Amino acid sequence: MNHKLLHIREAVMHPIFTQVGEVADDLGVECYVVGGFVRDFLLKRPLPSDIDFVTVGSGIQLAKEVAKSLTGEPKVSTFKTYGTAMIKYDGLDLEFVGARKESYQRNSRNPIVEDGSLEDDQNRRDFTINAMAICLNKDRFGEMIDPFEGVSDLNAKCIRTPLDPDITFSDDPLRMMRAIRFASQLNFEIDTTTLDSIKSQCERIDIITKERIVVELNKILLSDQPSVGFGLLKETGLLKRLIPELTALEGIEEIEGKKHKDNFWHTLEVVDNMAQLSSDLWLRWAALLHDIGKAPTKRFDKKIGWTFHGHEFVGSKMVYRLFKRLKMTLGDPMKRVQKLVLMSSRPIVISEDYVTDSAVRRLIFDAGEDLEGLMTLCVSDITTKNPRKQNRYKRNFEIVKEKIKEVEERDRIRNFQPPVSGELIMKTFDIGPSREIGLLKEALKEAILEGEIPNEFEAAYELMIKKAEQLGLKPVKQ
Ligand code: CTP
Repeated sequence: MNHKLLHIREAVMHPIFTQVGEVADDLGVECYVVGGFVRDFLLKRPLPSDIDFVTVGSGIQLAKEVAKSLTGEPKVSTFKTYGTAMIKYDGLDLEFVGARKESYQRNSRNPIVEDGSLEDDQNRRDFTINAMAICLNKDRFGEMIDPFEGVSDLNAKCIRTPLDPDITFSDDPLRMMRAIRFASQLNFEIDTTTLDSIKSQCERIDIITKERIVVELNKILLSDQPSVGFGLLKETGLLKRLIPELTALEGIEEIEGKKHKDNFWHTLEVVDNMAQLSSDLWLRWAALLHDIGKAPTKRFDKKIGWTFHGHEFVGSKMVYRLFKRLKMTLGDPMKRVQKLVLMSSRPIVISEDYVTDSAVRRLIFDAGEDLEGLMTLCVSDITTKNPRKQNRYKRNFEIVKEKIKEVEERDRIRNFQPPVSGELIMKTFDIGPSREIGLLKEALKEAILEGEIPNEFEAAYELMIKKAEQLGLKPVKQ
């Protein structure tokens, strides 16, 4: 037994593998563990809880027999059209499939015929690194079947399709995105032939549902260096079809010797910076989209040079349309991304001037619970290579941060509740719900944010009486 085989036996130490192997032996069918589990084991990555089994026979029948043999007899969920069955057991998702000759017919109503050998099944998988199988039958337990040299591709950090990539990608065009997602997640390179094939058939991504595409986009965004994935999406032509708002940012224009930066590559740097600081998916989306308003707002002014006036506002409106088009959530996460895009320049704009308390108070009030996220976005946005500018931005940013701390401690603005309530206003002047109450509350809020009065009851009450008088209201005797 060679070293490699021993190593692979280690992969299948969990008692579930012996158990599945024994059931397969009883049924007289071959059974293997394949795909992501084998790949991640060899990469020494945290092992996935999803385990894929392939049998040369019926996946559904094997799953049913396995379930019977397990304690508690877990439920089997079957998906007849795909010929697959799933068991949830002991924190694991066990998925069973029968080996097949044909590719996954996701768009077909015809049930998949399980008529293939292991080799047929491996041929139809997406990448060599995902096509390795380990046998679970007793007489060959732990034996690795690696017909496309997946192990050597793992060592070479290479993503390659087992068959001609044109065939593999036309079986399921989502695989083009999976190739890029694995490259970004694992920091691998895509083999040239495979990459060329993606370039030549990138428009086939149009037939894939948005939901499946977004799963891959999210995985790219959550990788350690999302610029690897987004750079490849751009290079292959996929990004232009999926998020044209981003590709519109590419390029540097020069008029009268004045240039602006390439906002596409700048954006990718910002996303990478963000990835170093936070693993919050929506903060990463905000970083990705923070400058999308710059393409439609770009102007050249003879005196000032390039301007992107109002790009934050325009960008935040574009976020909604983009999320809608990609069939993503339009709930709180989208609103949060919109808000971060809208406010993305605020901390820096403040820092360029003398940092006043009232500007900081307003920033805290408007950002609310997204203040930390906004500050993380702003620091990620500093990508200048000019050390003098870099130092200045960072210093200014620190000043704003300090000031926020100071003002927050003093004025408690974050979850702002006016010290005088609408109820009290009604009682004091003996009035019902009316426009005046709104006016008074707004006047108190403004006075606090502007620093005219402290965020305290006494001062607010006194100001309320004064402002009410201007509206012709007099307190009633209690
Ligand atoms: N697979 C495929 N084509 C696809 C999706 C999956 O050939 N479009 C095959 C691959 O062999 C893959 C296996 O099915 O390894 C399991 O797929 P999945 O669970 O989606 O991916 P994993 O490789 O396990 O990786 P991850 O969990 O990171 O998505």
